Amino acid sequence: MRVLITAGPTREYLDDVRYLSNGSSGRMGYAIAQAALHLGWEVVLVSGPVELSAPPGCEFHQVITTDQMKEACERLFPGCDGVIATAAVCDYKPAVRLTGKMKKGGGPITVEMIETDDVLAGLGSIKEHRWVLGFALEAQNPRENALQKLRRKNCNWIVLNRPEAIGSEENSVELISARGETEENWSGPKSRIAALLVEWLAVHAPNSNS
Ligand code: CTP
Repeated sequence: MRVLITAGPTREYLDDVRYLSNGSSGRMGYAIAQAALHLGWEVVLVSGPVELSAPPGCEFHQVITTDQMKEACERLFPGCDGVIATAAVCDYKPAVRLTGKMKKGGGPITVEMIETDDVLAGLGSIKEHRWVLGFALEAQNPRENALQKLRRKNCNWIVLNRPEAIGSEENSVELISARGETEENWSGPKSRIAALLVEWLAVHAPNSNS
């Protein structure tokens, strides 16, 4: 199995110095990359800026912005059997990126923000025989929102988790299928959830080489 994994946050720049980002440590994605390597899978890791080292043995692609993550993923996905999207992608970016460093003017400022592209939805739209697993971070109506997200992004499965997962060593997740069924509930250290998820995919996800 050859898997693409997205991890960490992306950044969107207001000028060459200031950026908007998400509070993501990248731990879940890196733990999944580690678990997949442990099972003997080939791992292509596309990561935003995090303080973690890429697991030895993976093919590592560093990105910073959402556009860079999208470009890397769309280039690399066709060579993979599936994708696991754990990245905390920045949903908005300033409409204009200024050159240099914006000067303070002594008063408030208003920044027009526009939506970034959806990396996972882009991969879902070109998946063909490949499988797609998304993560959904939901604070309200978690199941309903996660399922809507799964359908909008053409995922085979979605892993529902909560905002408490951000920056934490632990997580509590529900794996939901495209039919809306709960396949599994797992909780504990992210490394344990990662191992359980990869073992589950080894049984349930199609491998184009087998
Ligand atoms: N995702 C993505 N590109 C985006 C936004 C999200 O690839 N621009 C991916 C994430 O990596 C995750 C899934 O889509 O696998 C869901 O991300 P989430 O932040 O839960 O949802 P959003 O689509 O951003 O929607 P909302 O913020 O409204 O909940």
